[in-house]
Amino acid sequence: MVNPAKYISSNEMQKCIISIVIKEFTKNLKSISGICMDVGCGPGDITNNILLPSLDSNSVIIGTDIQMTMIEYAKKVYSHNTRLKFEMLDIQTKNLPEKYISKFNHIFSFFTLHWCDELRKVFENIYCMLQPGGTMLIVFPIHHVIFDVLKNIAHNFRFAPYLQNLNKYIPLFYNSAVPNEDLKDLLESIGFNVQHCKLWEDFFDTNPDVFLTSCLSVCTILDVIPPELKEEFEDEFRREYKIKLYVLFHRVISSLWLLHTGHGNACRAAKCDAVANKLTTPNMFIGYRVSFYQQAFLRAELFQGAELLAARKIAPLLHQFRQDRNKE
Ligand SMILES: C[S@@+](CC[C@H](N)C(=O)[O-])C[C@H]1O[C@@H](n2cnc3c(N)ncnc32)[C@H](O)[C@@H]1O
Repeated sequence: MVNPAKYISSNEMQKCIISIVIKEFTKNLKSISGICMDVGCGPGDITNNILLPSLDSNSVIIGTDIQMTMIEYAKKVYSHNTRLKFEMLDIQTKNLPEKYISKFNHIFSFFTLHWCDELRKVFENIYCMLQPGGTMLIVFPIHHVIFDVLKNIAHNFRFAPYLQNLNKYIPLFYNSAVPNEDLKDLLESIGFNVQHCKLWEDFFDTNPDVFLTSCLSVCTILDVIPPELKEEFEDEFRREYKIKLYVLFHRVISSLWLLHTGHGNACRAAKCDAVANKLTTPNMFIGYRVSFYQQAFLRAELFQGAELLAARKIAPLLHQFRQDRNKE
């Protein structure tokens, strides 16, 4: 069951990223008027507080979401705003309501489309809803540690029976080496003229507990887990996530240590990077390299959980890392 209030209290990272994107497109957005849709608007806070003020004052937005709980919440809190309406819509629907066809000047969607396993249908629907010359601005994750966490949990015998459809929850281009190219191809094959399509690899530092709360507050996977296992699933989810961060943190710290001992020797630095990259995907490495100071507290926190350290894959990974380091 999704929890709108919990999501609003923990979506700092989403707000931060959307604000950055909106700033990047300030000029284009300021000239947007007419009828817009925010697909997967969730509780409506970002639609009301960030998106709407960035548009021309003659614009109106219909926020749509697959979850009734979200739409009811958004209606209750933001319906005083005459420029906003909220309606239920599954953006993957095979029966797009007539009232939406060719009605929209602009369509937005933030942090939603990774939940959709039929991305072609999603974009066909968006294309149908746009008026000729209409535009779309979307942001959604392709890679994130959280998807690896889900994959790990799906191998856990307690949860495996309920996570047979895990692929539904993993973004379509997750394994692609060039997801932006693939997305562009998909959009063009539907008829979109793509002006800008960027793979953004910056890392946004966020408190892991707050981030996990935001994930779990909209995570419909929980709906397929039996009630008696829900708490255990959440604990496992949080634990696996922190372990992943811990492992990444260690790789980064070890890599930085190597860089230091190399006294700035460029060749050695390149080798260190290669070692770090070998042990993690380049994306993750790039992601976490910048955030190691903030992760330090995690290390301390996890050391307190001796049970975590004993049971998990950290030891062999560190062992391999040390061996690699000694070989150097
Ligand atoms: C992480 S929230 C994002 C909310 C808001 N756009 C933001 O950026 O904070 C993702 C939202 O997408 C909605 N969603 C998931 N699948 C959807 C679908 N097929 N059609 C419409 N909304 C969907 C969820 O119910 C959830 O409210």
